[in-house]
Amino acid sequence: MSPAVADSTWRALLAQATDALGERQAARWLVEDAAGCDAAGLHTLLDEVAPDVAATRLRALVARRCGGEPLQHVLGRWPFAGVELIVDRRALVPRPETEVLVDAALRELERLQPATPLVADLGTGSGAIAAALVCARADCTVVAVERDAGACSLAADNRSRLGPLARERLILRQGSWYGPLAAEAGALDLVVANPPYLAAGEWAGLDPVVRDHDPYDALVAGPTGLEAVAAVVSGAPAHLRRPGTLLCELAPAQAAAATALARRAGAREIWVLADLAGRERILGARW
Ligand SMILES: C[S@@+](CC[C@H](N)C(=O)[O-])C[C@H]1O[C@@H](n2cnc3c(N)ncnc32)[C@H](O)[C@@H]1O
Repeated sequence: MSPAVADSTWRALLAQATDALGERQAARWLVEDAAGCDAAGLHTLLDEVAPDVAATRLRALVARRCGGEPLQHVLGRWPFAGVELIVDRRALVPRPETEVLVDAALRELERLQPATPLVADLGTGSGAIAAALVCARADCTVVAVERDAGACSLAADNRSRLGPLARERLILRQGSWYGPLAAEAGALDLVVANPPYLAAGEWAGLDPVVRDHDPYDALVAGPTGLEAVAAVVSGAPAHLRRPGTLLCELAPAQAAAATALARRAGAREIWVLADLAGRERILGARW
């Protein structure tokens, strides 16, 4: 973006930001952020002169994005399954394919019809899945487990932004997988998880926007990539009531191995759901 020119209109700043980023929608979001308004508000402001402080802020946002920071980190917030989340380096930026997991979880709760649904979200990261579920179902309690202290603090920040009724139904616990869920053994209706599922060797080949900004432990499970999925599947039968269901996100290439793990863990019904691009992405298993 060109250096500060006094008395630029928002329209001119939007054009400059679009040129700098090469993406019109991303430029609009950054301009809306700098202007402190939404899309409709920006439309009414376009021919007004931007205050210097706002134009300077916009230049700083554009420079960060041009420097390779993910758009979500530059904005500091991102919508996920109907909830606006704070997003930063402390945890993975929630992905669109994980919204498919949330939809599947809501469908499964309708199918199971528990009186007062009790759900665990393992590896909650930003708290995205747990927050989406407590906001979508007023009768649902979610215990969200996360090992990483930084991610836990981000999940707590996101929890604090929910309305009071949703907030009190989202319980955060720090620990590894089922470790903090001894009190819920045999009582969960649903376990949802988006665990790390990359093999260590895949890290170096990731897009730098991901590799330089998302936490390693959020993406890499271990030497084979299946270690976390295996832990989530193997602990499910002891923690689910009957009937109860596990929904676990995975890499498409892991569908057959994850299905075999669920069979070995005694699941009665096993299926795999595709993401929006048609790739096998979510293991479903009922006990
Ligand atoms: C792929 S990220 C998913 C984050 C979030 N659920 C989402 O969908 O955006 C996986 C998360 O699992 C956490 N994690 C990794 N190992 C864990 C373990 N042993 N126990 C609990 N959480 C773990 C990571 O810190 C990370 O936040």
